[in-house]
Amino acid sequence: EKITVSIIKADVGGLPGHVLVPDEIIEVAKQSLEEAKQSGDIIDYRVLNAGDDLDLIMTHREGVDSTKIHRIAWETFEKATEKAKELKLYGAGQDLLADAFSGNVRGMGPGVAEMEFTERESEPVLAFLMDKTEPGAFNLPIFRMFADPFNTAGLVIDPSMHNGFVFEIWDIYESKRVFMKTPEEIYDILALIGGKSRFVIKRVYPKEGKLPADEPVAVISTEKLYKIAGEYVGKDDPVALVRAQSGLPAVGEVIEAFAFPHLVSGWMRGSHNGPIMPVPFRYSKCTRFDGPPRVIAAGFQLANGKLVGPVDLFDDPAFDYTRQKAMEVAEYMRRHGPFEPHRLPSEDMEYTTLPGVLKKLKERFEDV
Ligand code: F6R
Ligand code: MG
Ligand code: MG
Repeated sequence: EKITVSIIKADVGGLPGHVLVPDEIIEVAKQSLEEAKQSGDIIDYRVLNAGDDLDLIMTHREGVDSTKIHRIAWETFEKATEKAKELKLYGAGQDLLADAFSGNVRGMGPGVAEMEFTERESEPVLAFLMDKTEPGAFNLPIFRMFADPFNTAGLVIDPSMHNGFVFEIWDIYESKRVFMKTPEEIYDILALIGGKSRFVIKRVYPKEGKLPADEPVAVISTEKLYKIAGEYVGKDDPVALVRAQSGLPAVGEVIEAFAFPHLVSGWMRGSHNGPIMPVPFRYSKCTRFDGPPRVIAAGFQLANGKLVGPVDLFDDPAFDYTRQKAMEVAEYMRRHGPFEPHRLPSEDMEYTTLPGVLKKLKERFEDV
């Protein structure tokens, strides 16, 4: 029997500013999802936060893109927004860009990562939740998990992984997608996904073999908030789900992909490059210069759709070195102040103040 795991997330208000989601909001969301669980609409749920983003993790039998499930998420965000307004949290309801629900949360502001699959005899599922960055931040770690033998020993050692995987890559500017195979196409894949603001990994599928080739093993939220809203309303802090073990990367191989705090765009005002720092749940808040960008990892086992866990996977001294490195890189990048490559390149600034500045100076520019 097939189970669907859905993460639907939105920023409905921060305490203070864009730092984190307070407990009061988490409570409202839990209550709302508990009702959905009691009425049998969902099997199970967990509510977590990545900085100022409220993440609803739900399991159910409704498949992906289900109106019923998306409505539960939307209504939960509405209730959370009510509470956020009462507390006068910062940016209350900021990611709810539509006035009314119309069948699917996609295009309405929230981010979505969901996949339907046949639950295996034992099914480890990992949720990665990021704040102050964009979907392309997952390109590097997802590539490393599923395609880089220097990260994932199983690609070399495990016969059932040796054939590689299929990557579904989206061009989020043109709303197009392409399916590409590893290992035979990795150079072409890297040519695309190295441009992480445009090309993003949406899903990974197994090749024909031990696991059904039409059931994804990883999925990433790829909503582009500023495209939806028409003006900048914050980065679309992404989430991902990754299945592990038995013919897939081991839990430790999945997590290993985050041991390098690579540079991502986002951070202060969504306009800066900075390192992504893997942190325990308790540090899922953004402080220094509204950051640095962070990721938390929640590890689950599924039991007939029930969620066992989470285990706070980055709550481990094994990641202290990565965090230390992230802090060194954060300090180094910060010293550049308003200069690139700390500040994003001009193309990526077109939704912020740069067009206004250029317009103001238009008359004063003369030919040279
Ligand atoms: C980045 C982010 C924050 C805000 C910044 C300014 O994703 O959410 O860095 O961009 O705090 O926020 P406003 O314009 O709301 O004062
Ligand atoms: Mg916010
Ligand atoms: Mg956020």
